[in-house]
Amino acid sequence: MSNVKFYQPEHQVPLEMHKVRVVQKLTLLPVEERLRAIQDAGNNTFLLQNKDIYMDMLTDSGVNGMTDLQVAAMMQADDSYAGSETFNRVKAAVKEVFGTDNVLPAHQGRACENILAEAYVKPGMVTIMNFHFTTTKAHITRLGGEVIEVVNKKGLLPQSDDPFKGDFDLDLLRATIEQYGPEKVAFVRIEAGTNLIGGQPVSLENMLAVADICHDYGVRSVLDASLLQDNVYFMKTREAQCKFMTTKEIYHLLAAKCDIVYFSARKLGFSRGGIITSVNPKFTNEMMEYVPLYEGFLTYGGMEVRSMEAMAQGLYESLDMEYINQGPEFIAYLVKELDDYGVPVIKPAGGLGAHLNCSEFVPKMPHNKYPAAAVGAALYIAGGIRGMERGTVSEQREPDGTERYAELELQRLAVPRRVFTLSQIKYCADRVKWVWDNRNIIGGLKWTYEPSVLRFFFGRMKEIGHWQEDLATKFREDFGDSL
Ligand SMILES: Cc1ncc(COP(=O)(O)O)c(C=O)c1O
Repeated sequence: MSNVKFYQPEHQVPLEMHKVRVVQKLTLLPVEERLRAIQDAGNNTFLLQNKDIYMDMLTDSGVNGMTDLQVAAMMQADDSYAGSETFNRVKAAVKEVFGTDNVLPAHQGRACENILAEAYVKPGMVTIMNFHFTTTKAHITRLGGEVIEVVNKKGLLPQSDDPFKGDFDLDLLRATIEQYGPEKVAFVRIEAGTNLIGGQPVSLENMLAVADICHDYGVRSVLDASLLQDNVYFMKTREAQCKFMTTKEIYHLLAAKCDIVYFSARKLGFSRGGIITSVNPKFTNEMMEYVPLYEGFLTYGGMEVRSMEAMAQGLYESLDMEYINQGPEFIAYLVKELDDYGVPVIKPAGGLGAHLNCSEFVPKMPHNKYPAAAVGAALYIAGGIRGMERGTVSEQREPDGTERYAELELQRLAVPRRVFTLSQIKYCADRVKWVWDNRNIIGGLKWTYEPSVLRFFFGRMKEIGHWQEDLATKFREDFGDSL
C-alpha cells in the first residue's frame, strides 16, 4: 500500500504496491456440499479440508504471500546440520531488524514458548501479560505456572475508538508484581498485536513503560513479537512519537529495552519457524540447552533451511511500510464494510483480521452453546469462508472441569498478508451481511468429542436442532442457483 490518493475520493480503496505473479485455483462448493463438509468436520473449522474452502481466513500464520525475493532466497539454502550459512543469514537479518546478536532458532512460535516456559516457569510461579495466547498459556500451565492478565479495561470493550486496546494497566502490573513478589514472577510477557482481543496493538509508550517497571522490580521482560509488524504499523499511524521514527528504530528500541524477544516467523517474516533473541547473552545462554533437546541443533532449531532463507528475506521486508501496511489496511476496509452494514465487529480495526463480536451477533445464545463457533459454522455454510473460533471453545476448562467463559466471543476472519484481492474481501463482507440478516436461524452447538488440552484444534461439535439445514435452505431461496 502507498499513500496514493484517488482522483475521486469516494472510490478510494487501499492500493497494493505489489503485483501477483503466482496464483492458486480456488473452488466454491454448492451450499449443500458446504453444509455436509462443516458437519463432517464436527463444526470445527480446523477440521475442514482446504479443497472445500473458498476463502481461508482461519489464520495469518504460515499462509502469507511470499515475494519473488523470498522464493529466490530459498534456492540458496545451505543444508547442513551444523554451522550452515543459512543460519548466518538468519542471524544477520535478526541483527538488522532487532539489533540483537544472540539468536536461538525453534520450529515455530509455540516452540519458543515451550523453551521459555521450560527455562523459567516453576510450579507456583506466575507469568503476567497483557493477555494470554492459547499456546503460551498451555505451556505455562502445563509446568504448574499461572497466567495473570493485566490488560487495560478498555481492551475488553468490543466497540471503542481507543487506538491501543492491547495496552497494559500499568498500576495493575505493579500491584500484581508486589502481590506475588518479584521472585515468584517467572516473566512479564508483552504480546504485541494482542491476538485474542482482536489483534489490538500496544503503544510504544506502554511497552517501554512495562519494560521499565520490570527492570525496577528485577523481573524478566519478554516481548512476543509475532504480531509486531502490524503493531509497528499502528504505532507509526496512531502514536505521535512514532510518526517520524523509522520502523527499524522502533524494533531496535524495543529489543534493547526488553530482556527477551521471541516470535513466530509464520507471521513476522512471512514464512515459517520461530526465533528467540536477546541483546544480553545471559538469557539465550539460559535457554540454549533446550533447543537441541526439543528442536534441533542450534543452527537450525527444527526449521527447514529453505524456510529459514525465506524468513531471513521476509524479516527485511517486515521493515518496509509498503508491505506491512497491506494487512492492516485491508482489515480496516473489511471492518468498515461490516460496520456500515450494521454487523457487530470489534473496533477499531486491528491487525491479523476482522473479528465478529458474536455475543452481539447472536445475543440470546449463552456461552455454553458456543456462539462464536456457531457463527463460524454459519459463515462457512453461507460462503465457503473459513474463520476461527476465538471464544469459549478456545478457552481451557478450569481444573475442576467447569467451563471458563471467554471474555469476548469472537469469530476471527484472518486476512493473510499479501494473499487476497479486494474483490474477495468484498465477497466476504457480503456473505457476513447475509449471515447477519439471517442470524435468527442460527442455533447453538454441543460437544460430541472434547479433548482435554487445546480442544479448539480437534474437538468436534454438533448442531442443536436442525438450524444448519434451515440456513442452507434459506441460502438456496435467496441465491437461486448461485454458488
Ligand atoms: C501472539 C502469538 N504468539 C505466539 C503464537 C504461536 O506461534 P506459532 O503458531 O508459530 O506456534 C501465535 C500464533 O498465532 C501468536 O499469535
